[in-house]
Amino acid sequence: MQIPKDLIKEAAKKLQSVKNKSEFYNLRSHYLGKKSFVQNAFKELKNLDGKEKIRIAKSLNLLREELTDFFESVDLKVLAVKEEPYIDVTLPVNANIGKKHPISVVMDLILDYFHNLNYSSYFGNEIESDYYNFEALNFPQNHPARQMHDTFYLNKSLNDKCLLRTHTSNTQIHMMLNKSAPIYMLSPGRVYRCDHDMTHLPMFTQVEGLAVDQNISFSDLKGTIIGFIDYFFNQSVDVRFRPSYFPFTEPSAEVDIRFGKKGWLEILGCGMVHPNVLRNCNIDARKYRGFAFGVGVERLAMLYYGVEDIREFYASNSEFLNQI
Ligand code: PHE
Repeated sequence: MQIPKDLIKEAAKKLQSVKNKSEFYNLRSHYLGKKSFVQNAFKELKNLDGKEKIRIAKSLNLLREELTDFFESVDLKVLAVKEEPYIDVTLPVNANIGKKHPISVVMDLILDYFHNLNYSSYFGNEIESDYYNFEALNFPQNHPARQMHDTFYLNKSLNDKCLLRTHTSNTQIHMMLNKSAPIYMLSPGRVYRCDHDMTHLPMFTQVEGLAVDQNISFSDLKGTIIGFIDYFFNQSVDVRFRPSYFPFTEPSAEVDIRFGKKGWLEILGCGMVHPNVLRNCNIDARKYRGFAFGVGVERLAMLYYGVEDIREFYASNSEFLNQI
């Protein structure tokens, strides 16, 4: 009986093209299984005689040992990496499905209300020049109100300073310069201020509203805001217009709502568009008047969901988000 040489080498070569565990087991049984050369040769031993039988039996034992060692030395973990993942489609689905972020939910509620009143959306620039963020909004250079905005400047060396907008009011100017009155605009977006604590973030979201038309009065502004607040909280809420100051509106007010034990909470700023702003945008201030408001979306979301710490909204904590 001839015992083939290089059986291990041959097996090692074939192993290289093995892609998964089942191919590996097939290969092993080809060399060591019932129908393998080694096992058949053992069966043939009975036909041999004496010395020849002993010699061949020794060689066969050796070969079987070597083959066994060879297959045992193969690291199945390495093969598992090559293996294509097995997907059991009968397993129950892990229903951890993504959903809208609470800020987007609140934003959509606001947009829905005003779209129904025929306001159209306009998305402005987050990187803005000093002119649109301040100057055209009646904040002259060195006006003290600029200090209140804790601005992030991008490049102080530029002639027309670049900054991250501190409010969405910059879109008022773009809109009035690009479109003639009447205007009913809503402008949602991110704004930036150098501020960070439980109730302030360096980046937050506002929605700006602007209406410019003939015969617009402060009572139109009041009616619009009160209507929105009742809709948003789905009940009649105590609302207070508190006199305030913004360079771009006159008169100006901040709007507070009464919220349980917490008392009065401010949710937006508003006022009648200052005639200087209308003039900066080439709108005839004798013919047209306007009102504007800016809503803090995170503040509304905190009230809507009963969240105490504004930073929760951006902590990417899925437990918190799922709870909401
Ligand atoms: N832009 C103001 C702010 O961020 C809010 C505002 C908008 C006030 C429009 C009046 C009119 O505080």
